[in-house]
Amino acid sequence: MAVQINPSILSADFARLAEEAKAVEGADWLHVDVMDNHFVPNLTLGVPVVESLARATDTPLDCHLMIEDADRWAPQYVEAGASSVTFHVEAAGAPVRLAREIRAKGARASMALKPATPIEPYEDLLPELDMLLIMTVEPGFGGQSFLDIMLPKIRRTRELIRKHGLELWLQVDGGVSAATIERCAEAGADVFVAGSAVYGASDPAAAVRALRTQAEGVVSKASWACDH
Ligand code: DX5
Ligand code: ZN
Repeated sequence: MAVQINPSILSADFARLAEEAKAVEGADWLHVDVMDNHFVPNLTLGVPVVESLARATDTPLDCHLMIEDADRWAPQYVEAGASSVTFHVEAAGAPVRLAREIRAKGARASMALKPATPIEPYEDLLPELDMLLIMTVEPGFGGQSFLDIMLPKIRRTRELIRKHGLELWLQVDGGVSAATIERCAEAGADVFVAGSAVYGASDPAAAVRALRTQAEGVVSKASWACDH
């Protein structure tokens, strides 16, 4: 059960994305937040920027699509070079078909839940996914406060993963920092997105290492990780 730390370039300098990617070498993935100003009230970047970034870094790209009409757009992010593509279930018309399409194109398929979206209706879909993302803030902006009320959902999701014996990664995104990462890890998360906690630090690579050490310390003792 390896801990993974994914810095979010939403908090990086968009004029220097290649350098900002290099500043976190040692990170497992680069988390790329795509926002369309419809699904969320913010606008970031799209396919052409992902294509360029994929050419500019060896770190695999974890694209988090906060966009409407995910069925139409998500496959294009695989073609653009993303190694993992996350769509929001609230924006997908046919999540099973979409997850299969993402996998068939060669990327890891991941599904995200906004804070008010429960996991239980999607239990039967979990085998179709490589990762599940539980948002720990309302999506749209970096630098928001972590929502502790999401911890029970993380616990329940980890229990479903265990119950079905799945190799499903459980990602958390939003307000993850030195102050909150241990709570997430204890509840069952193993993939941690951090934007402001990494790019707001004077040494982003050191911030990634410190977050990893904290999370690994908890996961190595966590009850949910013991039987693996
Ligand atoms: C928010 C994005 C996050 C964001 C997290 O909607 O999905 O990935 O970058 O930023 P922090 O870590 O600052 O909360
Ligand atoms: Zn994100």
